Amino acid sequence: MKQTYLGPTDIKVGCIAYGNWRFAGSTLEEADEKIRTALDYGMNLIDTADIYGFGEPAGFGGAEERLGEVLSMDKGLREKIVLATKGGIIPPRPYDSSYDYLIEALDNSLSRLRTNYVDLYQIHRPDLIVPFEEQARALNDIIKSGKARHVGVSNFTVSQTRALQAHLDAPLVSLQPEFSALEQSPMTDGILDYAGETRAAVLAWSPLAGGRLATGLASEGDDADRFGRVIDTIDKLASDHGASRSQIALAFTLRSQANVIPIIGTQNIDRIIESAASADIELTARDYYDLVEAYRGVGMP
Ligand SMILES: NC(=O)c1ccc[n+]([C@@H]2O[C@H](COP(=O)([O-])OP(=O)(O)OC[C@H]3O[C@@H](n4cnc5c(N)ncnc54)[C@H](OP(=O)(O)O)[C@@H]3O)[C@@H](O)[C@H]2O)c1
Repeated sequence: MKQTYLGPTDIKVGCIAYGNWRFAGSTLEEADEKIRTALDYGMNLIDTADIYGFGEPAGFGGAEERLGEVLSMDKGLREKIVLATKGGIIPPRPYDSSYDYLIEALDNSLSRLRTNYVDLYQIHRPDLIVPFEEQARALNDIIKSGKARHVGVSNFTVSQTRALQAHLDAPLVSLQPEFSALEQSPMTDGILDYAGETRAAVLAWSPLAGGRLATGLASEGDDADRFGRVIDTIDKLASDHGASRSQIALAFTLRSQANVIPIIGTQNIDRIIESAASADIELTARDYYDLVEAYRGVGMP
């Protein structure tokens, strides 16, 4: 798989990452196979969060716990992966990015993950109460402690990102927005521009729109016209490139001007393998603009 850097760091990662949101219900054997398959096919960046598993039998921390068990079975495995986690969502509050909470949340994540550091620690969602200066103090101390090599944010607007960055001693190396052929807001809300400015990696969550771009089945909240246009365009490009819908959807995110690393979320081994092959699909500029126009419903001016 093509490689890229985790933003402005010297950490090399595959251009597609593997996400653990839907991972908590895996048996240990299944979990091990998923992580090893992702790694074997070049997806060495593994993205998890303390909240993954909440609302399921595994509970809060369940996905990290499972990954920690996988890591503990093979002592060499930890060094082979670039480990990213997130903290700051705590239902029903719902968010807490206070100094004390973030410091403790990371300690708890590390103990579930059975490691003494993560490569990337991200604030999961913007806390509208805690001052940015306090959030930054926590992240600064986390880096100083060696418990995280780098820090990033998820679901922050550009102005929230800048406000936090203003108080940080280190760069925010990653932004994690929802980004797909069906959710192109990062192109116009400044996120991709900010990433271009700072070289932050854009970890694109739900790059298949949670599977809708693979199944072609819209959800209730989708704009039916837009959904139809995007799926029709994906189908045409899939036929042109001899690829699947999901491969075209992933290739779209990879063709972006910023350093976009889509995080796939499938729990199916064959689909992990299929996703990896999308890194080799070269969408033309016209293909890319076809998907932008399908999303916007108008031609480029
Ligand atoms: N920062 C945030 O707020 C945030 C929010 C959401 C997600 N994330 C991150 O992004 C990662 C990916 O999110 P996601 O899971 O929504 O990504 P996704 O790749 O857009 O969607 C994955 C879903 O699509 C289904 N799918 C994939 N290919 C399919 C196919 N060919 N046919 C039918 N279904 C198919 C998968 O089902 P199968 O398992 O059956 O293949 C799975 O349920 C997460 O794991 C997490 O790391 C972050």
